[in-house]
Amino acid sequence: PDLPLVDTLRRPLQDLRISVTDRCNFRCAYCMPREQFGADHPFLPRQSLLSFEEITRVARIFADLGVTKIRLTGGEPLMRKDLYKLVAMLAQLPGIDLTLTTNGALLARHAQALKDAGLQRLTVSLDALDEATHARMSDSSVPLADVLKGIAAAEAAGFRQLKINMVVQRGVNDHAILDMLRHFRGSGHILRFIEFMDVGETNHWQMKDVLGAREILQRIASEYPIEPIEANYTGEVAKRWRLVDGSAEIGVIASVTQAFCRDCTRLRLSPEGKLFTCLFATQGHDLTTHLRTLNEDDSAVAAWIASVWAARKDRYSELRHAGQATGGKIEMSYIGG
Ligand code: GTP
Ligand code: 5AD
Ligand code: SF4
Ligand code: SF4
Repeated sequence: PDLPLVDTLRRPLQDLRISVTDRCNFRCAYCMPREQFGADHPFLPRQSLLSFEEITRVARIFADLGVTKIRLTGGEPLMRKDLYKLVAMLAQLPGIDLTLTTNGALLARHAQALKDAGLQRLTVSLDALDEATHARMSDSSVPLADVLKGIAAAEAAGFRQLKINMVVQRGVNDHAILDMLRHFRGSGHILRFIEFMDVGETNHWQMKDVLGAREILQRIASEYPIEPIEANYTGEVAKRWRLVDGSAEIGVIASVTQAFCRDCTRLRLSPEGKLFTCLFATQGHDLTTHLRTLNEDDSAVAAWIASVWAARKDRYSELRHAGQATGGKIEMSYIGG
């Protein structure tokens, strides 16, 4: 594009996060609490999901609008049948950093196919290294060993510098901060600690359950001296640190105690084709109508997307910080991290 597309707060559109399914084989209490996401939960019907062709078409339009990073998420993206085929299609788009976030349960089975399809980077969510805490947090019977096998398979397939994302909940898995660090230091992977967030309306979030970045870092520093390192780029979500002994890079994602909306360049696409301009949005913008019902050509779709971005004024985490949080938020399991 001639001029970078910016929203009302002058933020450019740079990242597209595509949720490919609202289903997941875990039931993490902070994301899909089982009492809300039980056997009778109305997940999206198969035919309402965007096809791989539709997703790829949309991604190309976004690339033309200035997007340089695409992340596939869910739900659990590896629950979507033949996901590697979508990866192969998206990998054809020039100049796109293509990455995926998974809970790792099915990764051992799919790592090589994802690598061969052209996936560039991989993030694995993992909240603990003891079976009891893993089982409690994921509320699933998938053994921790499966996730670790998934990570090993990703390494064997040639993925380097995985990001390992750990959501920290005070009193639930904060004891695992140092377990995780001991385990992953020296592996070449980047371990990231995420403050527990008030996404959606069902996870019973309370501020007292958040272990803030400052405290997370204090606990790490009590065992391993750390020093900050420069951000890779403006608007990077994680604040980067490294162990002074050089054995690990770590990151802290402090969306509760240090909101980063000011530089938020992310747009989210839901499995059935709604655009969400914030992780905490209450409503999506219906792209599918433009694709399927109005049958618009690429330039018309691009113009509509540009108008959605241009009108964007979201800054939920900053408002929460200012005590002005609002309700009615969409669920993170549907829109993806
Ligand atoms: P890189 O491309 O590797 O830099 O990825 P990233 O740092 O964008 O990380 P990732 O997508 O793994 O995000 C990590 C976590 O940060 C997510 O699971 C969310 O919990 C949180 N997060 C990411 N984006 C946002 C956002 O826009 N707002 C808020 N509040 N949290 C976010
Ligand atoms: N707070 C913080 N992060 C969350 N995630 C899901 N729910 C929450 C929450 N309430 C993150 C998980 C996973 C990604 C998909 O989203 O860590 O890495
Ligand atoms: Fe847990 Fe991720 Fe599944 Fe949510 S989408 S329940 S965070 S594994
Ligand atoms: Fe972006 Fe919304 Fe997250 Fe703020 S709360 S960083 S605007 S997605």
